Amino acid sequence: MNIKFEEREELKEKIKDVNNLGFGQYFTDYMFLMNYDEDTGWHDARIVPYDNISLPPSAMCLHYGQTIFEGLKAYRNGDKVFLFRPDENFKRMNRSNDRLCIPPIDEEFMVEALKKLIDLERDWIPDSKEASLYIRPFVIAIDPKLGVHPSGSYLLMIILSPSGPYYKDGLAPIKIYVEDKYVRTVKGGLGTAKAGGNYAASLKSQVEAEEKGFSQVLWIDGVNRKYIEEVGSMNIFFVTEDEIMTPELSGSILPGITRKSIIELLKSEGKKVVERRISIEEILTLHKEGKLLEIFGTGTAAVISPVGELFYEGTEIIVNNGEIGEISNYLYNELTDIQWGRKKGPEGWQV
Ligand code: COI
Repeated sequence: MNIKFEEREELKEKIKDVNNLGFGQYFTDYMFLMNYDEDTGWHDARIVPYDNISLPPSAMCLHYGQTIFEGLKAYRNGDKVFLFRPDENFKRMNRSNDRLCIPPIDEEFMVEALKKLIDLERDWIPDSKEASLYIRPFVIAIDPKLGVHPSGSYLLMIILSPSGPYYKDGLAPIKIYVEDKYVRTVKGGLGTAKAGGNYAASLKSQVEAEEKGFSQVLWIDGVNRKYIEEVGSMNIFFVTEDEIMTPELSGSILPGITRKSIIELLKSEGKKVVERRISIEEILTLHKEGKLLEIFGTGTAAVISPVGELFYEGTEIIVNNGEIGEISNYLYNELTDIQWGRKKGPEGWQV
């Protein structure tokens, strides 16, 4: 498919202070759009000036949450620009699409379209070891109808945001509240899809945890109220003397691309990584026995986020003396070195 281009009359001023970008606050000059309708399929791919869009108040996405998104980044290393495994994002986008009854996109075409957009916007990619260009592809249902059924028309967009580290303190241990009231999702729900509704479901819990002085919550499964699922909007890993473990993708956990990459990296170095059910009680016992060395979250936005403290039913546990652990530190450096192209990564990771 041909990609049309509409030029802006005037470019915006770039953000000069790349150390204070925050996350997802500034947007670049252009965006990518593509429409779907039942007669034509996906069509009218175009790169146009970043601007407000117009939708009828009856657009279905505004009512029933038929919307999915992705998140990845472009990294600058001198004159070179890298994307990290973008094919994985568009593969996952199609899995999310399928779960939300949104028609599939052509993954290869989307990688090419993204490259074109990034090439055009390359001057917006911060020249920095921490800041990058956050890429947000998403799809919304736009039929002007209020009946509860899948929309017949959709809008796919990609917007770009020069962003700093997700947490303003960078790689610093965070305090986590083990959520005992709210549930993010359950098996069979939307948890494995990157659907807007999952993040809406997490807000109340996040607000209450912040009020109690915590930065994120640890999500426990909604059926047994026992097994660990995710931390905030990230996957979670536990390091013991013998192995590194992470909850298995049981049907309610988002298959993170950082999660997958970390498992692959650690395994390629001969480390023992296990994906299985992990209960909160097991973690408390490991901690009591002095066998729990590190906990960290993984995600595109934060990369690695060490957990310094867990609070569960009145008990506080301090992990690794509240400091950044050896494995967390190693993985953060290794992954960011690959993402920024300072080091050669496995085949296909650096685009
Ligand atoms: C990520 O870790 O990349 C996320 O999914 C967070 C994002 C929703 C800001």
